[in-house]
Amino acid sequence: MKKWILLLGATLAFAKFAPNSDCQKCHPKIFEEYQTSMHANATIFKDPIHKAVWLKNPLSKKGAYKCAKCHTPAADNLKELMAPNGIGPDPKNPTQNDAVACAYCHRIQKIEPGLKANKNIISPEPKKYFGARIDHIKSPYHKIDTSNPNFLQGNVCMGCHSHKRNKFGLNVCSTDEKGEIENTRCTSCHMPKVKGSVSTLRKTPAHAFHGFAGAHTHSQMLAKYVDIEFLPHLQGFEISLNSRIPHPMLLHPARVAFLKVMVKRGDKHVFTKVEKLVRILGAKGKPTPPWLAREVVKDTMLKANEKRNFFYDFKLEPGDKVIAVLGYRLVKPPLAKKLGIDDPEATEPKIFKKEVFLYEK
Ligand code: HEC
Ligand code: HEC
Ligand code: HEC
Ligand code: HEC
Ligand code: HEC
Repeated sequence: MKKWILLLGATLAFAKFAPNSDCQKCHPKIFEEYQTSMHANATIFKDPIHKAVWLKNPLSKKGAYKCAKCHTPAADNLKELMAPNGIGPDPKNPTQNDAVACAYCHRIQKIEPGLKANKNIISPEPKKYFGARIDHIKSPYHKIDTSNPNFLQGNVCMGCHSHKRNKFGLNVCSTDEKGEIENTRCTSCHMPKVKGSVSTLRKTPAHAFHGFAGAHTHSQMLAKYVDIEFLPHLQGFEISLNSRIPHPMLLHPARVAFLKVMVKRGDKHVFTKVEKLVRILGAKGKPTPPWLAREVVKDTMLKANEKRNFFYDFKLEPGDKVIAVLGYRLVKPPLAKKLGIDDPEATEPKIFKKEVFLYEK
């Protein structure tokens, strides 16, 4: 009996996820793209923004790396890593370096709704991977199951991306605050079909992009989902942002988006205006870190499917060029300073979309 319990303990403690490196040989394209994604880089070792916020979180003093549930879910010591026992992330542990691992995602069998966050239920079969390509050949390395509705509907993301509430019940970060977008396929925009074979064992013309286009990488692939429109008036002009995104343009509360509108007359800039789009969390009307926040202090972020018009009281002359730039910074500069993030990538302005309109009359 004693032996049996020991054995059971041992199996629970061991890594249950095939390492990412196992997939490289037969899925080289997908593997390569994946390395550029934030899923491959979601650890405190590779993401300086995540690391800085973790170090400020009161849980870090206790070594309770609860973030592992979503940032390094394939860790072989997941339970210990999350418990308040002083054991924090370990850069030498290869299973933690696999971050949001290939095998982890492909073994998500079900997603259980939860109040603070949803929960992924992992299939007990280590070498069976869920997918959405019903027309497939056999793999010599693993079984394939194409009957999982989360994969078929492109929503296997919702165990980690649906919502995250803090201890006061405030929704800190969410694609789906009201549970309204269950049926929008996340994969249609974030994993579009791109050229290149699914595997080396059979040539296919295309595969699902595994660079996971988002705010850090490959954002140009997503620019087509927000239109920038120009409408001249008698006394001024209007710029509209027309979003076809089923969630707010940016989700993480560290971000700040901006709309910069300039008028160029000849080679001179005769008008410049910048609007900021932010969602600020806080308490008693003042900004706080997410774990202390009790309310949304301010929210001017471009909302899901919103069309927003910005009016500029500036009289254009024929030949003027109106330049509109929609961009963002991953971390608001004052916040980056507070967090001690010196990585320029965190605060540099990123251009999401730019349009130039000629005013002819
Ligand atoms: C329920 C799942 C979940 C948990 C638990 C979680 N995160 Fe995250 N985190 C996410 C997701 C999903 C994103 C991507 C959000 C986005 O880009 O809008 C993210 C992004 C972040 C970012 C932005 C990173 C960047 O490079 O811009 C920071 C910072 C962060 N998380 C910190 C933490 C910390 C610290 C913890 C633990 C105390 C934690 N998270 C726990 C799901 C989670
Ligand atoms: C020895 C080669 C080999 C290795 C190693 C391998 N695969 Fe595959 N995999 C294949 C083949 C072959 C297919 C089917 C391709 C086709 O239908 O054209 C496939 C298909 C898949 C599919 C698609 C299922 C579908 O039909 O939608 C997934 C998901 C997948 N593999 C995940 C993985 C993961 C994760 C790893 C690493 C842990 C991995 N594979 C390692 C050969 C391999
Ligand atoms: C196991 C949890 C988990 C699952 C499942 C998951 N993600 Fe993520 N995702 C994360 C975390 C954590 C981050 C933030 C990483 C960071 O910035 O450090 C993230 C970041 C992202 C980003 C932002 C990338 C960027 O460049 O800023 C996108 C887009 C994204 N995920 C899309 C998806 C899609 C689409 C799916 C479903 C097919 C999915 N995710 C499934 C945990 C998950
Ligand atoms: C119609 C296209 C579309 C669909 C569908 C879509 N997104 Fe997005 N998503 C976008 C665009 C556009 C952005 C902005 C990217 C940027 O800033 O570069 C974005 C940004 C994100 C980010 C990064 C936000 C941040 O603050 O870093 C995450 C995470 C994300 N989406 C997850 C999801 C998930 C999960 C789903 C499914 C519920 C989903 N998206 C469905 C278009 C889409
Ligand atoms: C965040 C979750 C997530 C991660 C991480 C992930 N995948 Fe996928 N993968 C998916 C989803 C969802 C699909 C189905 C895409 C669709 O519906 O078009 C998919 C599709 C596939 C396919 C079939 C290709 C196709 O065109 O549909 C293969 C093969 C595959 N993944 C292998 C991998 C490998 C190898 C890795 C790591 C290098 C990996 N995946 C990492 C979610 C993930």
